[in-house]
Amino acid sequence: MADNVASHYSENIKLADAIADKLRSAGKDLNKLTTADLIAVDEFHIRGRKATLELGEKMNLNAHSHVLDIGSGLGGPARTLAEAYGCRVTGIDLTQAFCDAATAMSNWVGLGSHVSFKQGDATNLPFENQTFDAAMTMHVAMNIAAKDKMYLEARRVLKPSGVFAVYDVLQGEGGEVLYPVPWARDPSISHVATPDEMKSLLTNAGFKLLDVQDSTEESQGFFEKMTAQMTKTGRSPVIWHLFLGDDFPAMARNQVRNVTERRIRTVTYICG
Ligand SMILES: C[S@@+](CC[C@H](N)C(=O)[O-])C[C@H]1O[C@@H](n2cnc3c(N)ncnc32)[C@H](O)[C@@H]1O
Repeated sequence: MADNVASHYSENIKLADAIADKLRSAGKDLNKLTTADLIAVDEFHIRGRKATLELGEKMNLNAHSHVLDIGSGLGGPARTLAEAYGCRVTGIDLTQAFCDAATAMSNWVGLGSHVSFKQGDATNLPFENQTFDAAMTMHVAMNIAAKDKMYLEARRVLKPSGVFAVYDVLQGEGGEVLYPVPWARDPSISHVATPDEMKSLLTNAGFKLLDVQDSTEESQGFFEKMTAQMTKTGRSPVIWHLFLGDDFPAMARNQVRNVTERRIRTVTYICG
């Protein structure tokens, strides 16, 4: 199962090179890149960098914080928080190609000393108990059947006072998810929980729910804008096709329906 998930995201094993080529052809000087130059690719979740900054605000971060990003992808969220707060972020991700690209991109923008990325599984974290001041996970659990293990692991590696911020895609009340979607081409690697299941999973892992925010309406706007731009210009504002392949336009179109028909919801949980 884990292998199938990693191969879903591993369309391109030379991802950093492919991203560098795209940046060059967009006229960017690779020696003068900033994190803003990477936003077309590196915040791989609905509502992009805005959603990451929202989580950051709720996590009580400062320059001394050590944050864990579970399912860190291409490292955009880690870099965004490291840049905004001066904190250290460790990312863990199942997909080796993403860890490699995340490391390369962090060096490009001079954040290599603040962030690091390690290949590993969210259900079996390679860290000591009570290591981190805060932890986050964005759009990862929908690939994980054993969510109970994932959240128990998050609780274990967090310090007792640490905040756990979860921003995820959930099963909505409007019917089954239409595939392909960015996290799965078919239901075999898709495990979306309902809002009620999420509450039980998080509280059973020992977390207290401090805040719950549903952002589905805004997520609908995010996809409507993306597909409108794709129709108008023939180009997507994101370049996720570099690792999702030629299915990406179909995935984006399905996501408009999934979110509009409330087959999915996006919800943030701030847990203590
Ligand atoms: C949609 S991407 C989100 C990436 C990142 N959180 C972001 O928001 O930019 C989902 C990520 O979850 C990772 N993932 C899926 N299952 C995982 C697991 N069991 N352990 C660690 N990472 C996992 C994938 O490799 C992928 O990078």
